[in-house]
Amino acid sequence: MWLAAAAPSLARRLLFLGPPPPPLLLLLFSRSFRRRRRLHSLGLAAMPEKRPFERLPADVSPINYSLCLKPDLLDFTFEGKLEAAAQVRQATNQIVMNCADIDIITASYAPEGDEGTGTLKIDFVGELNDKMKGFYRSKYTTPSGEVRYAAVTQFEATDARRAFPCWDEPAIKATFDISLVVPKDRVALSNMNVIDRKPYPDDENLVEVKFARTPVMSTYLVAFVVGEYDFVETRSKDGVCVRVYTPVGKAEQGKFALEVAAKTLPFYKDYFNVPYPLPKIDLIAIADFAAGAMENWGLVTYRETALLIDPKNSCSSSRQWVALVVGHELAHQWFGNLVTMEWWTHLWLNEGFASWIEYLCVDHCFPEYDIWTQFVSADYTRAQELDALDNSHPIEVSVGHPSEVDEIFDAISYSKGASVIRMLHDYIGDKDFKKGMNMYLTKFQQKNAATEDLWESLENASGKPIAAVMNTWTKQMGFPLIYVEAEQVEDDRLLRLSQKKFCAGGSYVGEDCPQWMVPITISTSEDPNQAKLKILMDKPEMNVVLKNVKPDQWVKLNLGTVGFYRTQYSSAMLESLLPGIRDLSLPPVDRLGLQNDLFSLARAGIISTVEVLKVMEAFVNEPNYTVWSDLSCNLGILSTLLSHTDFYEEIQEFVKDVFSPIGERLGWDPKPGEGHLDALLRGLVLGKLGKAGHKATLEEARRRFKDHVEGKQILSADLRSPVYLTVLKHGDGTTLDIMLKLHKQADMQEEKNRIERVLGATLLPDLIQKVLTFALSEEVRPQDTVSVIGGVAGGSKHGRKAAWKFIKDNWEELYNRYQGGFLISRLIKLSVEGFAVDKMAGEVKAFFESHPAPSAERTIQQCCENILLNAAWLKRDAESIHQYLLQRKASPPTV
Ligand code: BES
Ligand code: ZN
Repeated sequence: MWLAAAAPSLARRLLFLGPPPPPLLLLLFSRSFRRRRRLHSLGLAAMPEKRPFERLPADVSPINYSLCLKPDLLDFTFEGKLEAAAQVRQATNQIVMNCADIDIITASYAPEGDEGTGTLKIDFVGELNDKMKGFYRSKYTTPSGEVRYAAVTQFEATDARRAFPCWDEPAIKATFDISLVVPKDRVALSNMNVIDRKPYPDDENLVEVKFARTPVMSTYLVAFVVGEYDFVETRSKDGVCVRVYTPVGKAEQGKFALEVAAKTLPFYKDYFNVPYPLPKIDLIAIADFAAGAMENWGLVTYRETALLIDPKNSCSSSRQWVALVVGHELAHQWFGNLVTMEWWTHLWLNEGFASWIEYLCVDHCFPEYDIWTQFVSADYTRAQELDALDNSHPIEVSVGHPSEVDEIFDAISYSKGASVIRMLHDYIGDKDFKKGMNMYLTKFQQKNAATEDLWESLENASGKPIAAVMNTWTKQMGFPLIYVEAEQVEDDRLLRLSQKKFCAGGSYVGEDCPQWMVPITISTSEDPNQAKLKILMDKPEMNVVLKNVKPDQWVKLNLGTVGFYRTQYSSAMLESLLPGIRDLSLPPVDRLGLQNDLFSLARAGIISTVEVLKVMEAFVNEPNYTVWSDLSCNLGILSTLLSHTDFYEEIQEFVKDVFSPIGERLGWDPKPGEGHLDALLRGLVLGKLGKAGHKATLEEARRRFKDHVEGKQILSADLRSPVYLTVLKHGDGTTLDIMLKLHKQADMQEEKNRIERVLGATLLPDLIQKVLTFALSEEVRPQDTVSVIGGVAGGSKHGRKAAWKFIKDNWEELYNRYQGGFLISRLIKLSVEGFAVDKMAGEVKAFFESHPAPSAERTIQQCCENILLNAAWLKRDAESIHQYLLQRKASPPTV
């Protein structure tokens, strides 16, 4: 029986529930959703409040949740009935659970037998909110153009409590019997397979769908979806039923992900030597979705753009992204779901590990992607950039309050986590690493584990001092700069190494400089792809002798850019390495790492930026996509910096000079035999040239755009982003209007996103304003507003100022849209970190002091630090860069 009328909220009230012994029920953190609705209808938003945080007591815990939910897709409410079998370990007069924004109607507890078990019954109601967290509504348009809503969930990290009262902590595992009461023409999905579907007695339009009991699991992994979807299906080699659910009419677009998933499941089964524990897995595309994807056990949810591929209209980078995301979320089915972190402090175990193994999986499925090189540019360097800040944090960080938990879904947990696991895997070797993984997953299956548990398993498997090495990487923030100089001693090369914390602001100030245990590899020009020597640097300084190295051979540290450190070479050593860039004898990932180290040393003021510009010019013969991509990214950072000066045009000339030879080699159209990486490279180079105003590229982009718009010759998916960007940046109001029209007409979310991301390239102030207004309009899905505003901030000098003003003017709406969460951090980061004037750091800080965003506190500090670093960099190097660019113009280098 569903209760129609709601009793007053039990928020923070004590309930007497009858003898023996008279237990009290206390629901913690319960805030009524009605109060929120009321506030909203009065035009008031509930602004952040940070209550003191407490972990749940361990005296009462759940054994099984029997949960029935009945969402109303028209009224946006849901009714819920929970019957939880609980174990009382210690006599108590209260049961403490988590619960947020739902109203309790009745609650009771009945003890059973003498074993301390009993049943807790709670009836409740809640709102299907529009904040993309908890149990929420997601808007979609049917093929006939009708707007409808699906009911979906996103519980990680702390939002299961918004859907039902629960013990919402990862270590409090239980089984779940879930049933959903839904309109009979809708698809209803949950973690497990359906075991019963019967008419609902009170309403002939409804059915009750019952799902099989789950294994013991954490609340944040529970999921349900009710909506209209099509699907494609297969059975993986190891017998798991795999389905990809898509919007109605788009089942074809699920085929690519289905193939990847069907290959990935057996890959992980082999790698871990543990079978996938559920009978089915569904992957589903959700229209309104805050994260990229979520690993709910057996029902993985994705943004549409992280799952759907249309053979004609999807570009190569989308395919690669879908493969990586599928690889990532399916890894969690073991690493995270079967074995779960004990507390959020160990979140990095989940995310760092999945962010590493997704590459292993994609490398297995698509060796032609050369994905490990891309790892270095996408994760490793990104992590080092963040981790060099004073406001970074250790990988293992103590967290309590939900806003602190939200905050650590960042590049430290993901990218630094993945990078140190990559370094560790290299140090241990694949065989022992695999063995250790199996020991860990077997020992802790259906349980929880902490970082040291993983180290112990890997230590047992390898016999190496894993905990001692890894504690230096996960318990302290930052990473070392290894300084190295060399001396030829007869037939040998003597290397003197020293380590010191690398700081984005230059040198480390303070006593007791932290130290790391650094696995170091050394290669020479004799065999650039092979480590001549491997050492574990466990002291501040070390001398190493390399036997039989001729005086004309170069010596390089960090083969494969695997060690999580930066290297500073003596001038003589660096000088000897540079020809290896030009003649390509250094391996691609080493060329990339060398360039990236030099760039960050320049930003930190350790070497001059002009030196790096000269190194960049040595990349004339570079053929590798990822090397170009990293170089392009750094030149982008430098361009943004120099947009604060009056010689911005000169750096654009430099960009054009660096990129035109490769642009000419590639041309506009694919040549026979080209593959994935050629397509990525062409898009990158043409976009860079077009953006910098390279005349021939601009003209060709305009011509192709015109043909595209007129329907004469549709642009290939891989050329669309660079062409859109080029014509917009050098276009007018008409170009913007055409782009907005293409956006409206686009049927695929990928195409809409592609357009949204380049709109900020527009230069005219009125048009910039128009783009910002568009960002908050109904045309843009709520999760995508961030990239539109971020695109404006990164698009131009005027855009940067306009985006910041826009954020300040619309703060309440933006904050309310994401209710804190990681999207607000992303928005702030994208929008302010391009500033390079000291006073902007003060302005940003002051704004957020009066407009608090608890989950973005650390991001705000990092942004302010970055602004000051930019300002210092500009003051230090602008003049010499300018002189160099002028002199270069006067006498262009001969290549
Ligand atoms: N567990 C996360 C999803 C998540 C992210 C939940 C942030 C709560 C807050 C999921 O496994 C994940 O990491 N998704 C990534 C995509 C992945 C390929 C890096 C994401 O959403 O960006
Ligand atoms: Zn993840």
